[in-house]
Amino acid sequence: MDERVTLRSHLDRSVSRTPNGSAVNAVVEAVAAAAIELADLIAHGPLAGITGRLGGFNSDGDRQTDIDLAADTIMQRALRIPAVAAVLSEESELPEIFDAGAPLCIAIDPLDGSANLENNISVGTIFSIRPRGNDVLSTFFEPGTAQCAAGFVVYGPQTKLILAINGDVDAFVLDRRTGEFMLTERGVKIAHDTPEFAINASNRRHWHGPVRAYIDQCLAGTSGNGEADFNMRWIGSLVAESLRILVRGGVFLYPADARPAYREGRLRLLYEAHPMALVMEWAGGAAITGRRRVLELAAKTPHQRVPLIMGSLRGVRDVAAIHDAIEPMFDNSDAPLFARRGLFLESR
Ligand code: F6P
Repeated sequence: MDERVTLRSHLDRSVSRTPNGSAVNAVVEAVAAAAIELADLIAHGPLAGITGRLGGFNSDGDRQTDIDLAADTIMQRALRIPAVAAVLSEESELPEIFDAGAPLCIAIDPLDGSANLENNISVGTIFSIRPRGNDVLSTFFEPGTAQCAAGFVVYGPQTKLILAINGDVDAFVLDRRTGEFMLTERGVKIAHDTPEFAINASNRRHWHGPVRAYIDQCLAGTSGNGEADFNMRWIGSLVAESLRILVRGGVFLYPADARPAYREGRLRLLYEAHPMALVMEWAGGAAITGRRRVLELAAKTPHQRVPLIMGSLRGVRDVAAIHDAIEPMFDNSDAPLFARRGLFLESR
């Protein structure tokens, strides 16, 4: 980009177009400032006393490392501003009410994918912003369409902020010399049709029929019924996968499967799937559970899990079509019927 635009000036320019504009901007700036602090801590790792060692468990039974706890402290402290009514963090059992009269409620995963850090693989912060309803706590249990902004930060070779606001998705990179996020791409759009998929294939034996059939079709490529040969990527870090989809397109799947702990998938609705779904849709892509649009779902519990299939419109539609085509009674079956069906209902 020719013009050097800081995150702050970008937000200032759009403040009048955003409902609760100055409050939303304050939250985004708070998350961005905390992300800069966190990026520094992550980059120094052991030099800053971060061991990555496992400590206790969070409320949902996930192991916490010292960096998970540090990230949570940094983000929660940054969000103690007049704009914020309540924060639900992955690391806390329940939403914490800061000021019940404030205009916004925030759901946040302070450090997603922290298990990747010991391998120096990108991790991130995911956040979701919604206007407070009459009752603070029930705000979190409204559908994802209630979000007014969302985004994520990737701590990788660059520290990158992806922000969905005002119906658009914009990308920023941290300028380490000035300590400011700079706009690098306005109106990010996901490629409509990239033959690339991402899934943890080690779970194949647990998958339900439609997911197995879709992946088998991708693997068969043009030697089967498909119109393209697919490439595969799997990082095991949601923010890194999401960024790749924004840049290159493709489909990411973390489906529900037959294991009791994965009946609702693995990822959390409020601070992983909802914000990613908003980013995907506003960038021209899609996000579904297999059969339903993620943004239409409302959480029943703070840490509810959900299947998440997101990315290029064409790929997500193909996954939805195969879910429709395969009767639920065949779920979790390896029946050859699935392999014979043409999955690509829309022409490329
Ligand atoms: O939710 C945490 C997370 O690390 C995501 O970033 C990632 O997509 C997923 O878990 C990977 O899970 P697994 O390696 O268990 O398949």
